Amino acid sequence: MKRSTHTPRRWFCRLFAAFLLLGGAIAVGAEAGADKQTVLITGANRGLGLELSRQFAADDYYVIGTARSPEKATELKQVADEVLQLDVTSDESIKGLAKALDGKAIDILVNNAGYFGPTLGLGSTREKSATLETLTRSEVLDCFAVNAAGPIFVTQGLIPNLLASEQPKVVVISSRSGIINQSRNAGAYGYRISKTAVNRAVKIMSVDKALRNAIVVAIAPGHNRTDMGGDRAKLTPEESMKMVKGLIETLTPKHDGGFWYYDGKELPW
Ligand SMILES: NC(=O)c1ccc[n+]([C@@H]2O[C@H](COP(=O)([O-])OP(=O)(O)OC[C@H]3O[C@@H](n4cnc5c(N)ncnc54)[C@H](OP(=O)(O)O)[C@@H]3O)[C@@H](O)[C@H]2O)c1
Repeated sequence: MKRSTHTPRRWFCRLFAAFLLLGGAIAVGAEAGADKQTVLITGANRGLGLELSRQFAADDYYVIGTARSPEKATELKQVADEVLQLDVTSDESIKGLAKALDGKAIDILVNNAGYFGPTLGLGSTREKSATLETLTRSEVLDCFAVNAAGPIFVTQGLIPNLLASEQPKVVVISSRSGIINQSRNAGAYGYRISKTAVNRAVKIMSVDKALRNAIVVAIAPGHNRTDMGGDRAKLTPEESMKMVKGLIETLTPKHDGGFWYYDGKELPW
C-alpha cells in the first residue's frame, strides 16, 4: 500500500523548512536596517540643523538629532529616529549623550549648533552687532564656547562611536565669516573669531590619530533664511542643505582637512 504524504514526520520537515526560510528573511531585513548610515546632527531643533535632519531622514538614514531642550523639539521629533539632549557647552551633557549612544556607530557627525551673539544674526542685523566700543567679554566667550570649543568636545566625546564606523565623517558647519581675509566691515567679533578658530580645529582634528581614518571638514552653508541668517538671506535652508547633504555624501579622503562652500567649491582660510 502507498504511504500517505501527510505523515507527521513530513509535516514537521515542512514546518521546519518554512521556519528556516522565515528566519532567513528576517535576518536579511535586519541586515538591511543595520546597513543604514547613522547621522548625528547637533542643534537640530530649528534652522539648518532641522532641515538637514529632515533631508537625511527622507533619504532613509538613521537620524539622531540633538537639542538643548528635547521636550520642546516638536518638529525634530517628527523627523528624527532619535532625539537626544545636548548642550555643546556642557561636559556633563556631552557625557550623557555619549552614554546614551554607548556602542552605537556614528557614520556622520554634523557639528551644526551655533551662536551668533546677543544680536539676532547676520544680514539685516549685522549693523547692530557689537563694535569694539560696545563688545562685551561674555559675547566673545559665549561664541567661543558654542562655535569653537563645542565641536571639539562633542567630537571628543563621540570618538568611540566614530571609530565604530568604517570611515566616519566629521563635519563642522562653519562660516565664511571666519575667513581671515574677508573683513570689509567691523562687528560680530565673537562670532567671526570663533569660526576662524573652529576652522583651525578642523585642520588639527584631520591629522589627529585619535580619529584614525575619519574625514574631517568645515563647510560654510552660505547665507540662509533662518533665525540667525535673517529674512534677507539669499538661500532657503532647503536649497542650501540639499547641496550640503550631497557634499557630505560625496566626501572622500581628498576633502579631509579642507574648508568647503555649500556648493562644493574650496574656500580660503
Ligand atoms: N544661517 C546662516 O546664514 C548661516 C551662515 C553661515 C553659517 N551658519 C552656521 O550654521 C549653523 C546653523 O545656523 P542656523 O542659521 O540654523 O542658526 P539658528 O537658526 O540660530 O539655530 C541655531 C541652533 O544651534 C543651537 N544651539 C545654540 N547654542 C547651543 C548650545 N550651547 N548647545 C546646543 N545647541 C545650541 C540652537 O538651539 P536652541 O534652539 O536651543 O537655541 C539651534 O538649534 C551655525 O553653526 C551657524 O553659525 C549659518
